[in-house]
Amino acid sequence: MKKVILIGFMGAGKSTLGRRIHQASGMPFFDLDDWIEAREGRKIGEIFRQDGEAAFRALESKALDILSDELPGEWVLSCGGGTPCFGDNMEKLRKMGTTVYLKLSPELLASRLLPEKEHRPLISGYSEAELVDFIRDLLNKREMFYKKAHLHLKEDEVDDWFLKLMG
Ligand code: S3P
Repeated sequence: MKKVILIGFMGAGKSTLGRRIHQASGMPFFDLDDWIEAREGRKIGEIFRQDGEAAFRALESKALDILSDELPGEWVLSCGGGTPCFGDNMEKLRKMGTTVYLKLSPELLASRLLPEKEHRPLISGYSEAELVDFIRDLLNKREMFYKKAHLHLKEDEVDDWFLKLMG
């Protein structure tokens, strides 16, 4: 039974890959941020602004608990960039299915995130010059969690893995 959990930094392509798997295989796809927004009736940015990051992290953990009980059969889940790095979320994720870390360099992440940084509460306050350093520092702190994933994929390894999953 395929249960795939995509993790990695913002901009790593988790949701895009999740949608691609869904389109190619029909496996149901869930995006944790979208799921939280739908349930809360608010955008992630609003939740951060109105209630703060700690409140968002509590909602994120609760969402994982609900989803891990409610998702039968095969599925793909894409997490938020911080999901595996709080509480015992990474252990929960590893129990739910095969965790896959999409591993990109800080430079590549910064180039992808720059055009859309205003929509992302954690990086919207940084200038272009500051962004890559912020990403490098946060990635350094988060890698110890990401590295616990069952699989680690670099950008150029994603297509081969995708084909294997489809096969
Ligand atoms: C976050 C990543 C975002 C979202 C929130 C916090 C993070 O998800 O959950 O803004 O802490 O890295 P994406 O990685 O899907 O952008």
